[in-house]
Amino acid sequence: MFDPKELDNLLETVGNRMSPKRFAHTRAVADMAVRMADLYCPEEADKLYIAGLLHDLTKELTTEQQFELCEELGVPYDPFRDALMPKTLHAKTAAALIGRDFPEYADSVIVSAVRWHTTGHEKMTITERILYLADYIDETRKFEDCVILREMFWGADPLSMDPEQRYSHLRKVMIRSFDMTIRSLLEDQIPISPDTIAARNDLLFEREEYEKRKNHNA
Ligand SMILES: [Fe+2]
Ligand SMILES: [Fe+2]
Repeated sequence: MFDPKELDNLLETVGNRMSPKRFAHTRAVADMAVRMADLYCPEEADKLYIAGLLHDLTKELTTEQQFELCEELGVPYDPFRDALMPKTLHAKTAAALIGRDFPEYADSVIVSAVRWHTTGHEKMTITERILYLADYIDETRKFEDCVILREMFWGADPLSMDPEQRYSHLRKVMIRSFDMTIRSLLEDQIPISPDTIAARNDLLFEREEYEKRKNHNA
Protein backbone atom coordinates (compact mmCIF):
# COMPACT_ATOMS: atom_id res chain seq x y z
CA MET A 1 0.00 0.00 0.00
CA PHE A 2 1.15 3.51 -0.79
CA ASP A 3 0.57 6.53 1.39
CA PRO A 4 -2.27 8.62 -0.15
CA LYS A 5 -0.29 11.78 0.61
CA GLU A 6 2.66 10.43 -1.37
CA LEU A 7 0.33 9.72 -4.28
CA ASP A 8 -0.99 13.29 -4.14
CA ASN A 9 2.59 14.55 -4.24
CA LEU A 10 3.30 12.34 -7.23
CA LEU A 11 0.21 13.69 -8.99
CA GLU A 12 1.44 17.24 -8.46
CA THR A 13 4.99 16.47 -9.59
CA VAL A 14 3.74 14.77 -12.74
CA GLY A 15 1.42 17.71 -13.44
CA ASN A 16 4.38 20.07 -13.33
CA ARG A 17 6.22 18.06 -15.95
CA MET A 18 3.67 18.15 -18.78
CA SER A 19 1.15 20.31 -20.61
CA PRO A 20 -2.37 20.65 -19.13
CA LYS A 21 -3.76 18.57 -21.99
CA ARG A 22 -1.31 15.71 -21.45
CA PHE A 23 -1.93 15.92 -17.70
CA ALA A 24 -5.70 15.64 -18.18
CA HIS A 25 -5.15 12.49 -20.25
CA THR A 26 -2.64 11.16 -17.70
CA ARG A 27 -5.04 11.55 -14.78
CA ALA A 28 -7.87 10.01 -16.77
CA VAL A 29 -5.70 6.99 -17.67
CA ALA A 30 -4.71 6.54 -14.01
CA ASP A 31 -8.40 6.69 -12.99
CA MET A 32 -9.47 4.29 -15.75
CA ALA A 33 -6.66 1.87 -14.79
CA VAL A 34 -7.95 1.86 -11.20
CA ARG A 35 -11.54 1.22 -12.35
CA MET A 36 -10.30 -1.69 -14.42
CA ALA A 37 -8.06 -2.98 -11.63
CA ASP A 38 -11.15 -3.20 -9.43
CA LEU A 39 -12.52 -5.72 -11.93
CA TYR A 40 -9.40 -7.81 -12.47
CA CYS A 41 -6.78 -7.33 -9.76
CA PRO A 42 -7.83 -5.00 -6.95
CA GLU A 43 -4.59 -5.73 -5.12
CA GLU A 44 -2.69 -3.95 -7.91
CA ALA A 45 -4.91 -0.84 -8.05
CA ASP A 46 -2.33 1.45 -6.40
CA LYS A 47 0.46 0.32 -8.70
CA LEU A 48 -1.75 0.76 -11.74
CA TYR A 49 -2.68 4.25 -10.59
CA ILE A 50 1.03 5.11 -10.31
CA ALA A 51 1.80 3.49 -13.67
CA GLY A 52 -1.02 5.58 -15.17
CA LEU A 53 0.52 8.76 -13.77
CA LEU A 54 3.99 7.87 -15.08
CA HIS A 55 3.14 6.32 -18.45
CA ASP A 56 3.44 9.41 -20.66
CA LEU A 57 6.17 11.30 -18.80
CA THR A 58 8.28 11.62 -21.94
CA LYS A 59 5.54 11.77 -24.57
CA GLU A 60 5.98 15.48 -25.22
CA LEU A 61 9.72 15.27 -25.92
CA THR A 62 10.91 15.56 -29.50
CA THR A 63 12.42 12.51 -31.20
CA GLU A 64 15.86 14.11 -30.79
CA GLN A 65 15.25 14.59 -27.05
CA GLN A 66 14.07 10.98 -26.81
CA PHE A 67 17.34 9.83 -28.37
CA GLU A 68 19.34 11.95 -25.93
CA LEU A 69 17.41 10.40 -23.07
CA CYS A 70 18.06 6.92 -24.48
CA GLU A 71 21.80 7.72 -24.47
CA GLU A 72 21.63 9.03 -20.92
CA LEU A 73 19.62 6.12 -19.55
CA GLY A 74 21.32 3.38 -21.57
CA VAL A 75 18.17 2.47 -23.51
CA PRO A 76 19.02 0.78 -26.83
CA TYR A 77 17.60 2.59 -29.84
CA ASP A 78 17.98 2.77 -33.59
CA PRO A 79 18.15 6.39 -34.76
CA PHE A 80 17.02 5.48 -38.27
CA ARG A 81 14.18 3.06 -37.53
CA ASP A 82 12.93 4.66 -34.33
CA ALA A 83 12.62 8.00 -36.11
CA LEU A 84 10.06 6.35 -38.40
CA MET A 85 7.98 5.12 -35.48
CA PRO A 86 8.55 7.81 -32.85
CA LYS A 87 5.37 7.04 -30.92
CA THR A 88 6.82 3.79 -29.60
CA LEU A 89 9.90 5.47 -28.15
CA HIS A 90 8.25 7.30 -25.27
CA ALA A 91 7.17 4.06 -23.60
CA LYS A 92 10.80 2.90 -23.45
CA THR A 93 12.14 6.20 -22.17
CA ALA A 94 9.33 6.71 -19.63
CA ALA A 95 9.91 3.22 -18.21
CA ALA A 96 13.65 3.85 -17.93
CA LEU A 97 13.11 7.28 -16.39
CA ILE A 98 11.19 5.84 -13.43
CA GLY A 99 14.39 4.34 -12.02
CA ARG A 100 16.18 7.67 -12.24
CA ASP A 101 13.50 10.21 -11.29
CA PHE A 102 11.07 8.14 -9.21
CA PRO A 103 13.16 5.30 -7.74
CA GLU A 104 10.57 4.72 -5.00
CA TYR A 105 8.17 3.58 -7.73
CA ALA A 106 10.61 1.48 -9.73
CA ASP A 107 8.58 -1.62 -9.06
CA SER A 108 8.48 -4.33 -11.76
CA VAL A 109 4.66 -4.17 -12.13
CA ILE A 110 4.75 -0.39 -12.60
CA VAL A 111 7.79 -0.32 -14.89
CA SER A 112 6.59 -3.14 -17.17
CA ALA A 113 3.09 -1.64 -17.50
CA VAL A 114 4.66 1.65 -18.60
CA ARG A 115 7.20 -0.08 -20.86
CA TRP A 116 4.54 -1.95 -22.85
CA HIS A 117 1.62 0.50 -22.81
CA THR A 118 2.00 1.53 -26.46
CA THR A 119 2.93 -1.56 -28.45
CA GLY A 120 1.92 -4.38 -26.15
CA HIS A 121 3.99 -7.55 -26.44
CA GLU A 122 3.70 -11.31 -26.29
CA LYS A 123 2.32 -12.82 -23.06
CA MET A 124 1.11 -9.60 -21.51
CA THR A 125 0.43 -9.69 -17.79
CA ILE A 126 -2.94 -8.54 -16.48
CA THR A 127 -1.48 -5.26 -15.24
CA GLU A 128 0.18 -4.60 -18.62
CA ARG A 129 -3.15 -5.32 -20.33
CA ILE A 130 -5.02 -2.94 -18.08
CA LEU A 131 -2.68 0.01 -18.56
CA TYR A 132 -2.55 -0.63 -22.30
CA LEU A 133 -6.33 -0.54 -22.64
CA ALA A 134 -6.88 2.23 -20.07
CA ASP A 135 -4.61 4.40 -22.22
CA TYR A 136 -6.81 3.67 -25.22
CA ILE A 137 -10.21 4.24 -23.61
CA ASP A 138 -9.69 6.91 -20.96
CA GLU A 139 -12.58 9.37 -20.63
CA THR A 140 -10.74 12.25 -22.33
CA ARG A 141 -10.44 10.33 -25.62
CA LYS A 142 -12.94 11.50 -28.22
CA PHE A 143 -11.43 9.79 -31.27
CA GLU A 144 -14.00 7.46 -32.86
CA ASP A 145 -12.04 4.21 -32.33
CA CYS A 146 -11.53 5.07 -28.67
CA VAL A 147 -15.20 5.82 -28.11
CA ILE A 148 -16.17 2.53 -29.78
CA LEU A 149 -13.75 0.57 -27.59
CA ARG A 150 -14.79 2.34 -24.38
CA GLU A 151 -18.41 1.52 -25.13
CA MET A 152 -17.48 -2.04 -26.07
CA PHE A 153 -15.64 -2.55 -22.78
CA TRP A 154 -18.01 -0.90 -20.30
CA GLY A 155 -21.25 -1.34 -22.26
CA ALA A 156 -21.08 -5.12 -21.81
CA ASP A 157 -21.27 -4.66 -18.02
CA PRO A 158 -18.08 -6.56 -17.10
CA LEU A 159 -19.00 -6.27 -13.42
CA SER A 160 -21.81 -8.77 -13.93
CA MET A 161 -19.51 -11.37 -15.56
CA ASP A 162 -17.82 -14.28 -13.85
CA PRO A 163 -14.00 -14.04 -13.67
CA GLU A 164 -13.39 -16.19 -16.75
CA GLN A 165 -15.90 -14.31 -18.91
CA ARG A 166 -14.48 -11.05 -17.68
CA TYR A 167 -10.97 -12.04 -18.65
CA SER A 168 -12.17 -13.18 -22.07
CA HIS A 169 -14.03 -9.88 -22.47
CA LEU A 170 -10.85 -7.90 -21.84
CA ARG A 171 -9.04 -10.04 -24.40
CA LYS A 172 -11.80 -9.46 -26.97
CA VAL A 173 -11.64 -5.68 -26.57
CA MET A 174 -7.85 -5.75 -26.75
CA ILE A 175 -7.88 -7.76 -29.98
CA ARG A 176 -10.21 -5.15 -31.46
CA SER A 177 -7.89 -2.38 -30.28
CA PHE A 178 -4.88 -3.99 -31.95
CA ASP A 179 -6.93 -4.38 -35.14
CA MET A 180 -7.69 -0.66 -35.05
CA THR A 181 -4.08 0.31 -34.34
CA ILE A 182 -2.69 -1.89 -37.09
CA ARG A 183 -5.31 -0.68 -39.57
CA SER A 184 -4.43 2.93 -38.90
CA LEU A 185 -0.67 2.23 -39.15
CA LEU A 186 -1.30 0.52 -42.49
CA GLU A 187 -3.31 3.47 -43.75
CA ASP A 188 -0.58 5.91 -42.75
CA GLN A 189 2.17 3.57 -43.99
CA ILE A 190 3.95 3.66 -40.66
CA PRO A 191 6.09 0.64 -39.69
CA ILE A 192 4.35 -1.73 -37.28
CA SER A 193 6.25 -2.83 -34.21
CA PRO A 194 6.84 -6.61 -34.18
CA ASP A 195 5.75 -6.46 -30.52
CA THR A 196 2.30 -5.28 -31.63
CA ILE A 197 1.98 -8.17 -34.07
CA ALA A 198 3.20 -10.60 -31.41
CA ALA A 199 0.74 -9.22 -28.87
CA ARG A 200 -2.21 -9.58 -31.23
CA ASN A 201 -1.20 -13.07 -32.39
CA ASP A 202 -0.80 -14.17 -28.81
CA LEU A 203 -4.27 -12.91 -27.87
CA LEU A 204 -5.77 -14.72 -30.87
CA PHE A 205 -4.08 -17.98 -29.81
CA GLU A 206 -5.25 -17.42 -26.26
CA ARG A 207 -8.81 -16.85 -27.45
CA GLU A 208 -8.74 -20.05 -29.47
CA GLU A 209 -7.53 -22.07 -26.48
CA TYR A 210 -10.23 -20.52 -24.33
CA GLU A 211 -12.98 -21.31 -26.85
CA LYS A 212 -11.78 -24.90 -27.19
CA ARG A 213 -11.71 -25.37 -23.43
CA LYS A 214 -15.15 -23.83 -23.10
CA ASN A 215 -16.65 -26.08 -25.77
CA HIS A 216 -14.94 -29.11 -24.30
CA ASN A 217 -16.45 -28.40 -20.87
CA ALA A 218 -19.90 -27.63 -22.27
FE1 LIG B 1 1.76 6.78 -24.29
FE1 LIG C 1 -1.11 7.91 -22.90
